[in-house]
Amino acid sequence: MAISGLLRPAMLAASRSPRMERTVTRMSTTKKLVDRFVAGASEPNAVTAVETLLNSGRYITVDYLGEDTTDIEQARNTVSHYLTLLSLLRGSDTGSVGSLEVSLKLSALGQSLPMDGHAIAREHAHQICTAAADAGVLVTIDAEDHTTTDSTLSIVRDLRADFPSLGTVLQAYLRRTEADCREFCGPGSRIRLCKGAYREPASVAYQSRAEVDQSYLDCLRILMNGDGYPMVATHDPALIEAAGVFATATGRKSADFEFQMLYGIRDAEQRRLVSTERHVRVYVPYGDQWYGYFMRRLAERPANMAFFLRSLRPGSQR
Ligand code: FDA
Repeated sequence: MAISGLLRPAMLAASRSPRMERTVTRMSTTKKLVDRFVAGASEPNAVTAVETLLNSGRYITVDYLGEDTTDIEQARNTVSHYLTLLSLLRGSDTGSVGSLEVSLKLSALGQSLPMDGHAIAREHAHQICTAAADAGVLVTIDAEDHTTTDSTLSIVRDLRADFPSLGTVLQAYLRRTEADCREFCGPGSRIRLCKGAYREPASVAYQSRAEVDQSYLDCLRILMNGDGYPMVATHDPALIEAAGVFATATGRKSADFEFQMLYGIRDAEQRRLVSTERHVRVYVPYGDQWYGYFMRRLAERPANMAFFLRSLRPGSQR
């Protein structure tokens, strides 16, 4: 097995270790790498990044970082950050319908609280969706580890009764996702299809790159043939090309689906797609709880991991 195949699970395990979090977040050398993937600590920082992206013809979705909240006050604090963000995003509107979106992690809104977590997260998400509708901003619910999928999709079903444009994320690495795509590919449904970023057991998730890529293609084919709005969230050149082929085969025009990529990753490819009239939305994370998100980005790419590991060597922290 290649070294990256061994390191990836280790990095994903580290992404959930409070001890590693304390170490990594204190290191001065981490900051430069974090800045590549995270648009700053505050709402004004996020809005600055948003304006630059909108001016380049890209659409945006903004995420206030944080996950696995076990404290109700912290969950409420997350809601209030989203309300502030939405009031600022209203002012960034380019007039292009659908260009602005926020992404929510239900675990940051209280889903993992021991008492009534599911109901609390649903109520908090409802509050944010109400403010977003008022500001003309779309909302998509992120996908987290597989233990949360049933709860998350049930909340999405409930909220879509009041907010039909609510989007959700499906992860191609999960064995269940083909069936979820069939359920969620109906009229008006906005589905962001990604490979999946968490460490999952073989009982629920494909483990090899080839299996995950094949599942992505199978799921994408279902979404493209459906009546919803596919959001093709990947940086993978083969899948980007396949999406174009499926779109042509199913008669979808540029406005009938979109590509999505993460802030700081494949910027030139994002611009190239825009120059070919494709819709591209960039996921812009901000906030000071960047640790879990950052470690998942490192785990995705051997070069990122190598750079980070070199910075851990004694004497490298200047
Ligand atoms: P893959 O990992 O194979 O990468 C393909 C190529 O892209 C690489 O060869 C490299 O060139 C480039 N690349 C990818 N990652 C990079 C990185 N970190 N640094 C530098 N280059 C990189 N996951 C999840 O579980 N739940 C979610 O809600 C979301 N949400 C989400 C939204 C959006 C808009 C995107 C684009 C992705 C997500 N993800 C996610 C993450 C997703 O599951 C996946 O982990 C990453 O997108 C990486 O997978 P790729 O499809 O890009 O392929």
